[in-house]
Amino acid sequence: KKIVLAYSGGLDTSVILRWLQETYRCEVVTFTADIGQGEELEPARKKAEMMGVQQIYIDDLREEFVRDFVFPMFRANTLYEGTYLLGTSIARPLIAKRQIEIANEVGADAVAHGATGKGNDQVRFELGYYALKPDIKVIAPWRQWDLNSRTKLLDYAEQHQIPIAKDKRGEAPYSTDANLLHISYEGKALEDPWVEPDEDMFTRSVAPEKAPDTPTYVEIEFRHGDAVAVDGTAMTPAQVLTRLNELGGQNGIGRLDLVENRFVGMKSRGVYETPGGTILLAAHRGIESITLDRGAMHLKDDMMPRYAELIYNGFWFSPERLAIQALIDKTQEQVNGTVRLKLFKGQASVVGRKSPNSLYRLDYVTFEADSVYNQKDAEGFIKLNALRLRLGAMAKGS
Ligand code: ARG
Ligand code: SIN
Repeated sequence: KKIVLAYSGGLDTSVILRWLQETYRCEVVTFTADIGQGEELEPARKKAEMMGVQQIYIDDLREEFVRDFVFPMFRANTLYEGTYLLGTSIARPLIAKRQIEIANEVGADAVAHGATGKGNDQVRFELGYYALKPDIKVIAPWRQWDLNSRTKLLDYAEQHQIPIAKDKRGEAPYSTDANLLHISYEGKALEDPWVEPDEDMFTRSVAPEKAPDTPTYVEIEFRHGDAVAVDGTAMTPAQVLTRLNELGGQNGIGRLDLVENRFVGMKSRGVYETPGGTILLAAHRGIESITLDRGAMHLKDDMMPRYAELIYNGFWFSPERLAIQALIDKTQEQVNGTVRLKLFKGQASVVGRKSPNSLYRLDYVTFEADSVYNQKDAEGFIKLNALRLRLGAMAKGS
């Protein structure tokens, strides 16, 4: 009877909007989120109104996005396949959650999204929907219709008076996804993993070689593992990330070009810009280096790849993600203090760290004379650790 559509206002989701109205002959409610993609949202409202939408939701979710999704993920120093900061993956559960809330508010029995049948995003949206509303009906037009070429899509738009931006008429654009954490690029020339992207593709960072010849220093303060201030100014989560994006972008930080394994089984090539996130990851590791116990640190490091895979694959609302999160959050209780970083031509390097809870003890570690540590204790420590190595070597007859 009613469908809630995740609507960006772009060409694809506008075609989807009209197609849903025609195919299902029911009311379509649009939902557009500001998660820091850097686009005006009023045009989306205008377009939805023009297409006869009665209920239009436009929500600023930037703070919720960073506070409840990005920051929890950064507490784990999360990277997928060693490099990807999960900028798209972490935003999908939030969109799914808000979409279901709206469905409940307006009494809709179905939700729809604009992800294709080949990617990760469909999985992330739909696992979110089903986890939060088990009886929801899901409509994924890309898996159903026959508008499977760009020409067909443009023809459909023309026939149904859907405005097409001038730059969308010609060559197909990169497939991009943007929010406060990152922007991604896929498709076009990038589909050949041997081809380096054009410099003019990038929108959030200067090329490292064009970045300033003098370094920028930045200080980030953490409380319980979350960044709370930059250069001495207290900030909200979204403000922190916005500021770090500026600093990172100016210094060419956070570009990544990789071939990754999609959940559905294929490999895909993506290029990402994550300037602020790249700084934040280095800074968070920096503060953990003096505040986290070794055993706790190594345990969370062991779990991180598993946690990253859960987020990548769309299992944000799963019991195992929540269980790992509880463990990660527990480790962050004493992760307080300040990290100083040097930003220079694509690198974010930690050059200083201090904490009221520091586990770093100069009196123990110093190369100078000390009165707290007895070097003789090390002899027995090493001998007992060596015991099984010696017994093993003896058994081999050496
Ligand atoms: N490959 C990345 C991921 O799976 C980015 C996906 C971008 N999505 C998009 N609709 N353009 O997280
Ligand atoms: C899509 O297929 O909609 C974008 C790529 C992805 O989801 O991985």
